[in-house]
Amino acid sequence: MTDFKIAPSILSADFARLGEEVDAVLEAGADIVHFDVMDNHYVPNLTIGPMVCKALRQYGITAPIDAHLMVKPVDRIIGDFVEAGASYITFHPEASEHIDRSLQLIREGGCLSGLVFNPATPLHYLDYVMDKVDMILLMSVNPGFGGQKFIPSTLEKLKLVRERIEKSGRNIRLEVDGGVGIQNIREIAEAGADTFVAGSAIFNVDDYQATIAAMRAELAK
Ligand code: DX5
Ligand code: ZN
Repeated sequence: MTDFKIAPSILSADFARLGEEVDAVLEAGADIVHFDVMDNHYVPNLTIGPMVCKALRQYGITAPIDAHLMVKPVDRIIGDFVEAGASYITFHPEASEHIDRSLQLIREGGCLSGLVFNPATPLHYLDYVMDKVDMILLMSVNPGFGGQKFIPSTLEKLKLVRERIEKSGRNIRLEVDGGVGIQNIREIAEAGADTFVAGSAIFNVDDYQATIAAMRAELAK
C-alpha cells in the first residue's frame, strides 16, 4: 500500500499563532509541514523565510518541514534553510541558474532535495537529475496564493512523472500542491501522487482533525 503523506500548507494558517497552528495540524494527523517561501520577485507575494523555519524548530516542532522555495535566485537562500532545520528543500528549476548545483547544495547540507514544476513547466528538467532528487512537486495552480482552483491537466502530468519515478527505481516522493481537498484527493492519488499539500482545505475549516481524517478515508477507498 502506498505510504500517503498529508502536508498542510501553513500559508493558510493564522500567522499570529503559527506555533500553535502547526501543533494543531500535527496533532490532527498531518505528516509534513509545508512551508511556502515567496519573494515578491519570482512570485507575486511575500511570505516567510528561514528565521520562521528556525523559530518553529526552536518552538519544538520535530515533524518534517518541507520548504517550498518560490524565490529567485535560489542558491543564496539554500544554506539558510539548511541551518534553519528544513527537512525537504524544493525549488523551481526556471528560478535556478544551475539546477544540478542547487540540488547538490541541498544534499550536501543533509536535506532532501526536490524540483517543483509549475502547471506549464515541461518535465525535461528532470532528464539528467533523477538521481539527485528525493521529491518531485507538481504545482496544480500557478504559484503565489492559496485558495486557487486545481488545474485538471496536472492529472495527466502526474501520470507521466509517476512513470518516470517507477523507471528510475528510486524512492522519490511525488507531491502535488494547489487546490487539493477532500473532493479531489482520491483522483489525484490515482494519477500517481503520494504526498498532498493542502492549505485552505485544512486551515479554513475549524476541525482540522475531521478534514485530515476525511482525506485519509478518501485515500483508503
Ligand atoms: C501556492 C502554494 C501552496 C498553497 C496551497 O503557491 O505553493 O502551497 O498554499 O494552497 P491551497 O491548498 O489553498 O491551494
Ligand atoms: Zn507550496
